[in-house]
Amino acid sequence: MIEVSRVSKVYASPAGPVSVLQDLDLTVAPSETVAIVGPSGSGKTTLLNLLGAIDRPTAGTITMDGVDLGGLDADAAARFRNRTIGFIFQLHHLLPQCTILENVLVPRLAGGWDEDNTAVRARATSLLEQVGLAHRLTHRPWQLSGGEQLRVAIARALINRPKVILADEPTGSLDPATGERIADLLLRTNEGAHVALIVVTHNPGLARRMQRTYRLEGGRLVS
Ligand SMILES: Nc1ncnc2c1ncn2[C@@H]1O[C@H](COP(=O)(O)OP(=O)(O)OP(=O)(O)O)[C@@H](O)[C@H]1O
Ligand SMILES: [Mg+2]
Repeated sequence: MIEVSRVSKVYASPAGPVSVLQDLDLTVAPSETVAIVGPSGSGKTTLLNLLGAIDRPTAGTITMDGVDLGGLDADAAARFRNRTIGFIFQLHHLLPQCTILENVLVPRLAGGWDEDNTAVRARATSLLEQVGLAHRLTHRPWQLSGGEQLRVAIARALINRPKVILADEPTGSLDPATGERIADLLLRTNEGAHVALIVVTHNPGLARRMQRTYRLEGGRLVS
């Protein structure tokens, strides 16, 4: 499902180049679950951004679902992301002017999906129920706590039935019980829909529930 080959990432900055990833390789099968751990600043979010076609590697190739991400222009990358990837960001990027139900529906609207509006709203509502927010459908993101906003972002990531879920600290701001519930939801989605799941986390309990764990160290992944 995902093939990362000799990927390097160097950021340009006024203080000089910042080399974050070096010759990194990773292969993920469909419906496989992978945890990526590593200290702050080691490049975990950088790697997810490359996998999500949000940013491009300085060198190397990434193939996902048979598509070479390097060959996509910005529009094609956005379309691919919308159809294939559910991205749970470290910062949730919810739209403040929209209700949480509308926030979950944004990827459907953005993707121009052709289907019954009622069915999609029911699916969005069901996802919000599964993250424990059924009673907050008409609230705005700024009326929610950090952990509640995170849970809206998780429902939003699942609305398009992605083939790959990329999650950056999906339990970061949650208490242990709520974190367990979110892990259950992600793993249920992984099993039921054969979705590959890549989770960046500082939470050892969550990492243990994934089939494989890699540590990002010196710009590479080590088992
Ligand atoms: N646009 C950028 N320009 C320059 N340097 C950057 C840029 N984005 C990230 N970096 C640097 O790249 C390194 C890796 O950042 P990244 O966000 O991937 O780390 P992380 O492993 O996700 O950390 P955390 O656990 O704190 O979220 C950091 O040293 C960061 O300062
Ligand atoms: Mg990060």
